Amino acid sequence: MILAILSALPEEQAGIAALLSDASATDYAGRRYTCGQLHGHAVVLALSGIGKVAAASTAATLIERFGAQAIVFTGVAGGLGDGVQVGDVVVASSYAQHDMDASPIFPRYEVPGYGRARFDCDAALSAQLAVAVQQCLASDAAAWTAELGLPAPRMHQGLVVSGDRFVSSAAEVQALRSGLQAVGMDALAVEMEGAAVAQVCADHGLPFAAMRSISDRADDSAHLDFPVFVQTVASRYAVAIVQQWLAA
Ligand code: ADE
Repeated sequence: MILAILSALPEEQAGIAALLSDASATDYAGRRYTCGQLHGHAVVLALSGIGKVAAASTAATLIERFGAQAIVFTGVAGGLGDGVQVGDVVVASSYAQHDMDASPIFPRYEVPGYGRARFDCDAALSAQLAVAVQQCLASDAAAWTAELGLPAPRMHQGLVVSGDRFVSSAAEVQALRSGLQAVGMDALAVEMEGAAVAQVCADHGLPFAAMRSISDRADDSAHLDFPVFVQTVASRYAVAIVQQWLAA
């Protein structure tokens, strides 16, 4: 079983490549893919860059060229849900694209050709990630968030939405949430890649799971909070959670 670990930014994965044994890197179509072994698992690491197209392209290459049989995304997201605070971790249970709008031909948010807006994450893989996240939160993570003056972090599980926008105002959060709620969807977090990877994995019938630490609240200070979190804590979460997950 070859497991792919995918992130958008280097900081969302920094430190994981150094844990691999028998590592070998290949550059292909503008991305670097690093294959190796981690706690007895065959893994391939990749950085997609930002946005849904970059993520879909990278996911397809992971599957087609590097033989990935499951993809796990590690990264950061903006918190949308009530009580989803900076420093918390969201394990996605499903994904939707908040900027998909082929209405009035198709219902708002529905992905044409799929008959649905939501793509479920793999339940077993997500459960494994959730255990790893809980272990991380129970050990080191409170010290990391304390460094940023934040309370002890918590885990959340639910819908995450993706779109090709960095959401950075309270007004946009309000509009995003009410649009989704109008069709019965309540999102915990927003980012820019996961739903694309979920769709590619669905096309190939492969399991997908994602964990996103919350770097900002997608509000008017998101552009200030995001870089601080990404540069300080994001990679610690990624390394600790991946280690816990694969050592289990
Ligand atoms: N990733 C992290 N924070 C985000 C935000 N506010 N909007 C979109 N993607 C994000």
